Amino acid sequence: MKEHLIWRYGVKRYDTQRKVTPEDIRELQNAIRLAPSSYGLQPFKVLFISDQELRAKLSIASFHQPQVTEASCLAVFAVETDINEIFIDAYFNEICQTRGVKLEGNLLKHRDSVVSSINRKSEEEKCNWASHQAYLALGFMLMEAAYLKIDVNAMEGFMPLQYDEILGLKDSGLRAAVIAGIGHRHSDDLYQHQVKVRRPENEIFINL
Ligand SMILES: Cc1cc2nc3c(=O)[nH]c(=O)nc-3n(C[C@H](O)[C@H](O)[C@H](O)COP(=O)(O)O)c2cc1C
Repeated sequence: MKEHLIWRYGVKRYDTQRKVTPEDIRELQNAIRLAPSSYGLQPFKVLFISDQELRAKLSIASFHQPQVTEASCLAVFAVETDINEIFIDAYFNEICQTRGVKLEGNLLKHRDSVVSSINRKSEEEKCNWASHQAYLALGFMLMEAAYLKIDVNAMEGFMPLQYDEILGLKDSGLRAAVIAGIGHRHSDDLYQHQVKVRRPENEIFINL
């Protein structure tokens, strides 16, 4: 895995001629879907946008970063804004269906404790909590992409409210959290030759 992690880098220029295959997109989506999340609730959706016209509009809301239009596809991680009892119950129904069990006993107790724990959060806390889950899923996609030698670059350099507007996210109970370009690096992208800079181990790790 180390070799793959050194291979990947934050791509600035994508090769517009090289598209990511639908099979590869499915693998990346699988990694996102299989990522763990707090309580298993996965409080986000991910838009995979290939449409160029739409991405041209998003580019303006992304400080014209070239990755938005040059990547083969743009992923927009958007967090759910209606994280309530209905949302939680949908998940517990899924558990019952998938595992062939009934919502009773310990499972019901667990459901009630999840509901009370989520209900204790303010709207802002819920949004932050949901963003953490989205970022973790993004991390899983980055790892899977590196393994498959697909270039995925995470990006926070965009205006979330404008994204919400352009993509009509608010009406769907969503809010843009983080985005990622998906594609293949351009051979002219100088960043691929730069040596990685990371804080020294002894500044990051505390071994007790
Ligand atoms: C959450 C996140 C947001 C980022 N936002 C941007 C961005 O808006 N534009 C960009 O070109 N790179 C962005 N990057 C890439 C980082 O600058 C890059 O990962 C970092 O400098 C480390 O370099 P490396 O990825 O090449 O190892 C982002 C990375 C992460 C993880």
